[in-house]
Amino acid sequence: MTKPYETRWFEEDAQPIWEQHILPRKDLINTYLEIGCGGGDSACWVLDNLAVEKAYVVDPWVKVSDQHDQTTYDAARDKAKERLQPYIKDGRAALYQISSREFFGRSSSELNHWDIADGTLDFCYVDGSHTGWDTMFDMANAFYKLRPQRRLKEEPEDQTRPGLIQGSKGKWYEEGGIMVVDDQNRIHHKQQAETRLATYGYLVAYTGRYQMVAWSNRQLVLTKV
Ligand SMILES: C[S@@+](CC[C@H](N)C(=O)[O-])C[C@H]1O[C@@H](n2cnc3c(N)ncnc32)[C@H](O)[C@@H]1O
Repeated sequence: MTKPYETRWFEEDAQPIWEQHILPRKDLINTYLEIGCGGGDSACWVLDNLAVEKAYVVDPWVKVSDQHDQTTYDAARDKAKERLQPYIKDGRAALYQISSREFFGRSSSELNHWDIADGTLDFCYVDGSHTGWDTMFDMANAFYKLRPQRRLKEEPEDQTRPGLIQGSKGKWYEEGGIMVVDDQNRIHHKQQAETRLATYGYLVAYTGRYQMVAWSNRQLVLTKV
C-alpha cells in the first residue's frame, strides 16, 4: 500500500481504487486536474505517487451549504496550502482558489493564457461540489480537457501493460485521459439531487465516448475514447 493519507474517506474510499487502477497507468499520466482539494489528500497522493509534471488544483474553500461552517473550510485551505507548498515551489503544482465554474469559464474565455488545452489532460478527479448540476458541469467540462485515445505507431513490446487497447486488424491504441468521480452514487442531500444525477446522466449521454474502468459505490473511473 502507498503511504496512508489523512482522512478516512480518501484512505478507505479512494486510495484502494487508485492503487488498483491509477497506479498501473502511471506512465500515461503527466497532467492532473483536481476539482475539490479539501485538505489536500488526493492531490498529495497524486504528487507523491505519480510522475505528474503539472497538477492543477482547484478549490474556493467557501461554505456553500450548512453541512460545514466556514472555519472548517479555512482550516482545510490552510492545511492544503502548507502541504502543497513544496510542490508549488518546484513547479509541479498550481493552486487556484476559485470554483470549478470560474476555472473552466476562464479556460474558455482566456484561451491565449490558458495552459490546459482541450484534448490534452491525462487525469481529472471530480470531487468538488457534489450537487447534481455542478457535478454534471464539471464532468462535461473535464471531458473536453481530457485527451482522447491515441493510435500507436508500432506494436507495443509489452502487450500486457495497463492502458493498452488492441483494436481490429492488429492496431494498437493507448487509453484516453482518465476521469474519476467521487461519491458517484450519492442520491440526495437535503432534498437536492446530488452526484448520481450527473453520473447516471453522463453515462447515458456520453455512451460510446468513454470506457468504464471501475464502478464502485463511491468512485467511478472511466477513460475517454
Ligand atoms: C470532499 S472535499 C475534497 C477532498 C479531496 N479531493 C481529497 O480527497 O482529499 C470537497 C471540496 O470541494 C470543494 N468545492 C466545493 N464546491 C466546489 C466547486 N464548485 N469547485 C471546486 N471545488 C469545490 C470544497 O471547498 C471542498 O474542499
